[in-house]
Amino acid sequence: MQHITLPILKLCLLIHLSKTEDWTFPEDFKFGVATSAYQIEGGAKEDGKTLSVWDRITRTPGFVTDGSTGDVACDSYHKWEEDVRILKELGVDYYRFSISWTRILSGGYTSTVNEAGVAYYNNLINALIANDIEPVVTMYHWDMPQTISTLGGFSNSAWVDFFTNYARTLFEQFGDRVKLWITFNEPNIICHYFNSVLGNITEAYPNGVIEYLCTYHLLKAHAETYHIYDREFRQRQQGKVGITLNFEWSEPMSNDPEDVAAAERRRQFDFGIFANPIINFDYPKVVRDRVAARSRLEDFPRSRLKRFTLAEKLSIRGTYDFLGLNHYTTWLVGEGSEADPTEHSFYIDTKVRRMQDDSWETTAAPDNKVVPEGLRKALNWIKTTYGNPDILITECGYSDTTGTLEDDRRINFYKEYLNATLEAIHLDGVNVKAFMAWSLMDNFEWNQGYTVKFGLHYVDFENPERPRSIKQSGEYFKRVIATRTLE
Ligand code: NOJ
Repeated sequence: MQHITLPILKLCLLIHLSKTEDWTFPEDFKFGVATSAYQIEGGAKEDGKTLSVWDRITRTPGFVTDGSTGDVACDSYHKWEEDVRILKELGVDYYRFSISWTRILSGGYTSTVNEAGVAYYNNLINALIANDIEPVVTMYHWDMPQTISTLGGFSNSAWVDFFTNYARTLFEQFGDRVKLWITFNEPNIICHYFNSVLGNITEAYPNGVIEYLCTYHLLKAHAETYHIYDREFRQRQQGKVGITLNFEWSEPMSNDPEDVAAAERRRQFDFGIFANPIINFDYPKVVRDRVAARSRLEDFPRSRLKRFTLAEKLSIRGTYDFLGLNHYTTWLVGEGSEADPTEHSFYIDTKVRRMQDDSWETTAAPDNKVVPEGLRKALNWIKTTYGNPDILITECGYSDTTGTLEDDRRINFYKEYLNATLEAIHLDGVNVKAFMAWSLMDNFEWNQGYTVKFGLHYVDFENPERPRSIKQSGEYFKRVIATRTLE
């Protein structure tokens, strides 16, 4: 009798567990929304703020699709009270925003603090806390001071000093109230994708050299910031310091072992190159081997991958209290062909080809196709590769071009990606602690200007008041937060 009942019981349990619509988010799970300074603030030259690379690059004809800039954006520099009001209405636990470096330190690398800039963030942070919303602060979301860019940006070893000087200022000014710090947003976009823009890298340098110098200096700056927090602030401020890495899931395009290895190699080049030194130890082996081999082929005297000393490896290892994850989409990945040895870049080193399935729903950011199961796979891979760290999903979102308030597709996107999150938590035991939607409102989408909209709120950019109106997806997210379940 017993041997029959047990399997039946197990089956019932499985059926019960697979009804994800009945699941709730764990009690300590936090919901939030995210933005970044250049994308929402405006006030580009106000109250002592100086130029960042984005204030400059947006002036390059043809660089931004609609010729727009972030000069005014959502005007959050003036409308922060309204931002806090709409955040409160959503009922979020977290608000992730970034600080504009050149609003705080006008000189970029000097230490003179711009009081007006500090006052702006003090007002915002105090209002958030008064409304029971916890600030999650990104220190660097791509708006490098132009003064530092002129000195070579991330390729200059002085970057580490410049950044830690700024980071220390932030801990001093805001650390009594900010308890969750993110050093960098999406390092692989910084170093590999947007490198020429964000680091002001000239074409005189081979990309494949500068890219890894950037990776090296960024990781050192991250680790040093963590140690500064440990030494000077942690005891009295009791906060947490992490980093946000973006991770597109790489799925092998076939069962061919070469394609399976290629997909794993892309994961390691995209994510492992930053996560491994911080969580495990050193760059992933496949990255070290592949860049070394490729550099030999290209006739470089040594690997283009700037290596860490043992002391550096030890100092970078363990410098995280949580891992921030930005996730949007998935690629099918296969073995690529070896490029001409006269060329050198991160892409060539990765040696993969990639495509997306035509059946996957497309979005206004055409590469960000909707593939919810990719999120669950990415979360599981992080769990197994890095020993199940605490993960905060710091961005996830859907773009359209219309900005219509009736945004069914965005609702569907959140339903499915939140469902994938629930599966990762309840079925797979992944330590996901938060989900922050990108974004609170439509904003300046980098080189796509205002043509691509990710907001839970619509912003009328034609109106000087920049009014915000909640979309149906915002109403949906609000219900999820209130009920802690998916409908
Ligand atoms: C990631 C970036 O962090 C954010 O700035 C951007 O707007 C979103 N992805 C959407 O592309």
